[in-house]
Order: sequence, then structure tokens, then C-alpha cells
Amino acid sequence: MKLLDFRSDTVTLPSEAMRKAMAEAELGDDVYGDDPTVNRLQDLAAEMTGKEAGLFVPSGTMGNLAALLAHCQRGDEVIVGDQAHTYIFEAGGMAALGGIHPRVVKNLSDGRLDLEEVRAAVRPDDAHFPVTRLLTLENTHNRCGGAILSPSYMKAAGDLAHELGLQLHLDGARIFNASVALGVDVKVLTGPADSVMFCLSKGLAAPVGSVLCGSKDFILRAHRARKQLGGGMRQAGVLAAAGILALTQMVERLDDDHRQARQLAKGLSEVAGIQVESLEPPTNMVYFQLMEGSADAFRERCKKAGLLVGVAGGSRFRMVTHYGIEGNDVKRAIDAIRDALSA
Ligand SMILES: Cc1ncc(COP(=O)(O)O)c(C=O)c1O
Repeated sequence: MKLLDFRSDTVTLPSEAMRKAMAEAELGDDVYGDDPTVNRLQDLAAEMTGKEAGLFVPSGTMGNLAALLAHCQRGDEVIVGDQAHTYIFEAGGMAALGGIHPRVVKNLSDGRLDLEEVRAAVRPDDAHFPVTRLLTLENTHNRCGGAILSPSYMKAAGDLAHELGLQLHLDGARIFNASVALGVDVKVLTGPADSVMFCLSKGLAAPVGSVLCGSKDFILRAHRARKQLGGGMRQAGVLAAAGILALTQMVERLDDDHRQARQLAKGLSEVAGIQVESLEPPTNMVYFQLMEGSADAFRERCKKAGLLVGVAGGSRFRMVTHYGIEGNDVKRAIDAIRDALSA
């Protein structure tokens, strides 16, 4: 029986069309800028996000770090949410590799940062302090339940950043989930940001890669940072070919993931022993709390019942709907959790 893998949308496998495009991709050495497929992907990504240029990177983590390195000097400070992926899950790369100091502001439960707190976190011009250089936001917000930052919030955050002399970087790993859920052009969400990173390898189902977009000058600096990080790839068009299809064929289908997430949340809300955080998940993530018992034992029982769930710390769990979830998979997952709880 098929293993139901709800740990993340990163587990998606490429479509048949992607595999074919990868096999047939026109290639060159991208370190020389000679890979036509990579160049096409970068141009397409820039056009879709409304930026001047794009840079293909192997991962979202590298895209965020290259962005931070391109925006900041050593000793500069970045304002970042306490629940941000960049702060929690990227191995401290900004500090370890960039000498960049994170200035942490608490995330509200809907993924926003309180903009008055952001204003207050900016350092005065004084030699005792690091220089505040950058504000980072995450949209959709992973640990905040796949929350969407609205166009008006994005605009207010961009206006504030620029008023304060900061740049705004958007970790838009799942920005297309936000634009599809809201029914708005993604540019409405990326417009206020000076740079945006989004992932091809999550709900968009490409096997590898993310794209960082911004102004031409910014991308020149990010390109150097990517090189420093060892992210210059050669015939990367085999990967970019799948990325192009991710952007041209897989965006609209994110709606299915959101519909399945709502179905999952509703079903799980009727299961005794767990508490679903949101009955109306905004995008493709459903978080719940195990009310009692060992989290490890629960996860193992789910696994025995053929279901993989994501662990989000303590008794908190995450299930993500994605391209590989279809048919009655959601119903089977709910049954597996019920079985695991009654075992
Ligand atoms: C919000 C967010 N940003 C960045 C990343 C990093 O992406 P990658 O796993 O490709 O490094 C992730 C990965 O899950 C993410 O959820």
C-alpha cells in the first residue's frame, strides 16, 4: 500500500513532463552563463515576480543566505521573526558565514511582525550598535500555519523598511501558494520587496532549486555570494528545465493542495485526542497538537499505519498537502491518525 507522506511538500516527485523536459533540456556551462535553460528560467522568474533579474540557486536556504550576503556587510543587522525559517532552520548561516547579526522580533500568530516593533528595533546611528540593514519577512509563513501576509501588509512593511533606510527581503519559499490562495498576481506580493526567494521544489514539484530575484545590481552581488557558497552549478539546465514547468504548469494546481488541507483540517478536528490549530488552514499546512501521550510513540504508530507526519517540536505536528496527495489519501490519513490514537 502507498505510504502517505504528509511531512512536507518538499517530498513531491517531478511530473512525467518534467522528467521529459529534463532529459531533453538544452544545456551549457552555467558558471560561464552559457546554459540557455537556466537563463530562460531566471528570466521567467524575474518577469513573474516583477524584478529585473533572477538567479537559480540549489536550495531555498542558499537563496536566502545569498540574499542576506548581497544586502549586508559583516556586522550589519537583520530584523527577522522569531519563527522565521531563516532564523530557526538555516543553521545560523547568516551569522556563521556572513557575520550578520540577527535582531529578533516576535512573530504574531498570523506570520506578521508588528511594524511598530520593527520600527523600534532599528538601531540609532551610534558606534556602539550594529547597523540595521535589512528586514526579512516570510510569505507564506511555515511555522505560523502556512499563513499568508496580505498585499496591504506587504506594502506597509515595504514602505516602512524604505522610510527607515532598510531593504526588504522576502523569503517567499511558498509565495505562489499565497498568490493562488488570494487570487492575486504574485507581483502584488513581491512588489514591495527589494528581493524575493521562492522555491521550485516544494508545492511546485520540481526536484531541486529555488530562484532569487531582485534588481540587476543586487543579483550581481548575489551571484558572487552564490559562488562563494559553492553554488555555481555547471549544466544546471537539467534542473532548470523542471523549474520552468514548475512555473508554467504547476502554479494553478496549488489550489488543490489548499482544498485538501481544508478537508484534512476538518476531518482531523473530529478526531478525539488531537487539537487542530486552524479549521480553515490558509494554504497547504495543517498543524495540530497531540493532547496527551508521547509524541514519539504517536509518530511511530502513524508510521506503522502507513502515514508520515511532520514533527514541529514538543507535541506539535504538521501535515502538508502536495502534488503527491490525491484521491482518498486525505481520508486514509485521517483514518490512520484515528487508528494511531486508539492503538
Ligand atoms: C519558509 C521556508 N524558507 C526557506 C526554506 C528552505 O528551503 P530549502 O529546503 O530548499 O533549503 C524552507 C524549507 O522548507 C521554508 O519552509
